[in-house]
Amino acid sequence: MSYDPESDLGRLRDEAQRAPSVFYNRPWHFEYVPPDHIRLWLRPLEGPMPLNKARAREYVISCGAALFNLRLAIRVVGHDLVVWLLPEPTYANPRNPPTLLASVEIVTQRVKKAGIREQALYAAIEQRHTNREPYRILPAPLAILTAMEDAAAQEGAYLRLLHPREAKRWMRRAAKVDKAFIPPFPNSVPPADYGPPPKNRYPRTRKDFWNGEKRRFERIPQLMALSTDDDTTVDWLQAGQALQCAILTGTRFSKSARYGQAAKYHAPHRDGYPARRHLLKPDDEARDGLSASFLTQPLESDDIDGEARRWPFRWRYAEVPQMIIRVGYAPERQPEKDTSRERSAEDSSGWSPPLVKPPPGAPRGKPEEDTSG
Ligand SMILES: Cc1cc2nc3c(=O)[nH]c(=O)nc-3n(C[C@H](O)[C@H](O)[C@H](O)COP(=O)(O)O)c2cc1C
Repeated sequence: MSYDPESDLGRLRDEAQRAPSVFYNRPWHFEYVPPDHIRLWLRPLEGPMPLNKARAREYVISCGAALFNLRLAIRVVGHDLVVWLLPEPTYANPRNPPTLLASVEIVTQRVKKAGIREQALYAAIEQRHTNREPYRILPAPLAILTAMEDAAAQEGAYLRLLHPREAKRWMRRAAKVDKAFIPPFPNSVPPADYGPPPKNRYPRTRKDFWNGEKRRFERIPQLMALSTDDDTTVDWLQAGQALQCAILTGTRFSKSARYGQAAKYHAPHRDGYPARRHLLKPDDEARDGLSASFLTQPLESDDIDGEARRWPFRWRYAEVPQMIIRVGYAPERQPEKDTSRERSAEDSSGWSPPLVKPPPGAPRGKPEEDTSG
């Protein structure tokens, strides 16, 4: 029996919505084009002015992450898909949204079973949350970090673990940028809402995510740098998909997964079966995967200054850095998400009629209020 995407739109939308987005503003907009196409738009969020490069880039990366979730949600029901990035040249400028970022065609007539990896990543979508808490001293195992690097490579980007010295350097730079940073958000978050500049030893967090407590964070966090070959809109979309694929891969493996498997699988075996006490022991640790948060302000400030984005290392790779990710194990489960921040069902980030570009010169509609701050 062939697949009817229309009857499954609610689930597809919910899974795509769970992607990370800068300031939690979900800059995407999905348009269902019967019978089997879904288009991903970058919707206008700010005023009538064109977006600056830093903002446009981060919005496109967020949309790339949502696209990855959508792809997984389609694959788990056993259907192949074809993704066209920037299919329409007239709507291809991310600095002047609406921008048609991708068109996804679902191959409804033919079944292609989802692999174990795809199913596991899909299951991780719900568990993943940005975790800005201090992480445990327990370092993330290299095997899992390598799996994350592979995951990013499969999506056409590069992910690298920073040397502790480089991580320290990045934290210092982030602290410096934070002190001087006046963010360019005309309509959304007023600069005063960013709170006092962070003190040494406290990680770079924005005020809307920071609850003011002074707690000790890791002295040298484990940081990973995500980069792409170039700095075009397609590269940003790839970076977003690679980002989501990598962090879902980290979430997918449990805390006890020294080699990427839950404890019960590396318990001692007797006569070919795991020893009884290991079977009975509840695998508490196995619930939580690797946590991640982002430290992107220094990259933004380079964009705003019109400079080439700087690598966190003295050594420069040929690629362009897109995101810096902090990874580690959070000591306790991340509290349930605050549902008051969820946008309503009628919100334009759901399924709705196509966004129509206003004729040149016409005033854009009233800018949307950002509820994320
Ligand atoms: C491109 C991009 C940049 C981000 N930059 C930061 C950042 O600098 N600091 C931060 O704390 N979170 C950052 N985030 C994380 C978002 O704030 C987070 O995804 C959002 O609040 C939604 O929460 P969730 O990831 O738990 O669903 C970024 C996310 C994206 C996609």
